Amino acid sequence: MSNRTRTIGIIMNGVTGRMGKNQHLLRSIVPIIENGGVQTSTGESVMPDPILVGRNPDKLAALAKESGVEKWSTDLDSLLADDAYEIYFDAQTTDRRVDAVTAAIKAGKHIYCEKPVASTTSEALALCKQATSMGIKHGVVQDKLWVPGMLKLKELIQSGFFGRIFAVRGEFGYWVFEGDRQPAQRPSWNYRKEDGGGVMMDMLCHWRYVLDNLFGKVKAINCLGATHIPKRWDENDKPYECTAEDAAYSTFELEGGIIAHFNSSWCVRVRRDDLLTIHVDGTQGSAVAGLRKCFMQSCDDTPRPVWNPDIESPLNYFDDWEEVPDRDYDNAFKVEWELFLKHVCNDEPFSWGLLEGAEGVQLAELGMTSWEKRAWIDVPELVVS
Ligand SMILES: NC(=O)c1ccc[n+]([C@@H]2O[C@H](COP(=O)([O-])OP(=O)(O)OC[C@H]3O[C@@H](n4cnc5c(N)ncnc54)[C@H](O)[C@@H]3O)[C@@H](O)[C@H]2O)c1
Repeated sequence: MSNRTRTIGIIMNGVTGRMGKNQHLLRSIVPIIENGGVQTSTGESVMPDPILVGRNPDKLAALAKESGVEKWSTDLDSLLADDAYEIYFDAQTTDRRVDAVTAAIKAGKHIYCEKPVASTTSEALALCKQATSMGIKHGVVQDKLWVPGMLKLKELIQSGFFGRIFAVRGEFGYWVFEGDRQPAQRPSWNYRKEDGGGVMMDMLCHWRYVLDNLFGKVKAINCLGATHIPKRWDENDKPYECTAEDAAYSTFELEGGIIAHFNSSWCVRVRRDDLLTIHVDGTQGSAVAGLRKCFMQSCDDTPRPVWNPDIESPLNYFDDWEEVPDRDYDNAFKVEWELFLKHVCNDEPFSWGLLEGAEGVQLAELGMTSWEKRAWIDVPELVVS
């Protein structure tokens, strides 16, 4: 085992934004540095050496001060030409991803980026092809796989608790304020199609890897979108027309006959365990996972409801669920960053790359096709030619 430390330069673009700043910089890279880097299987420590990139020097200087990461720059081209940086990370708005990632691949950088990787499947596949031909390593954010609730679900699945799983119900969403009564909690571009917005592209990318990794490959989709709130107010209090859908109601057929249904909405008031809940039914048991907690009910614990709306229910349907115990969990984005850094520096396995990113875009795109055509659409396997 070695005690060496390897420093790896990371260009971090889009870090003044919501995800780039909070999840990737402050909750992933900064704590990794504070922990002394990531240890690979050979005992080597990989120490990130990030540089913050953006357009606005004032914002970058303030972020540098807040995060303790000293280096920042507005000159992406020079950094791409600089061998001191081996990884390019992108958390810009979705519509800027393809151009920036293409330039970084051409410059021979390893790529790590937010989802969606592109706005169309063909662009996403082209990125994958270029990355493969350059022989670089690549990763795409699939954070939900490492949130505690999903890890607990995975444990239950692997233990055989469910018997045969036949249905998965995902409920995602919360009320995003329109921006007049109080500021919106999400950026206004999310609600403009022309700026890469829309809940389908945003959320179906997530459902693709959650379903594929936990339950079975997605084989077909039926999806209906809607723009329930037609007018919102932007970051400068200016009203604008919402041109992108703010809700998507989608049903999926999975390999193995499992039926999944996910509602994704930015206009729903929450009365459930969490902002995302996934309810899984199997022959031997059921479970409901939120972002952190997960509750299970085995066959033996299942109550015997009898339909009678004329009396108050004698059963409290929340009583017969047992909480899946907690373990130690780290921030989901940080966990994936650590896996990616070990993949780049020590060739450790990492199976969430640009092809899996493209599959997410594909599902979102087919969701839109299904909505337009009012039809079930098969999901073909993606191949990089
Ligand atoms: N993994 C997840 O759970 C998750 C959640 C939300 C968003 N996202 C994705 O992360 C990405 C960023 O989303 P966000 O919510 O942080 O958005 P945001 O609007 O808060 O941040 C966008 C970033 O892009 C930069 N940017 C925008 N226009 C630019 C331009 N013309 N030139 C240069 N830089 C520009 C902004 O300065 C900012 O740094 C999106 O692709 C989004 O889909 C992922």
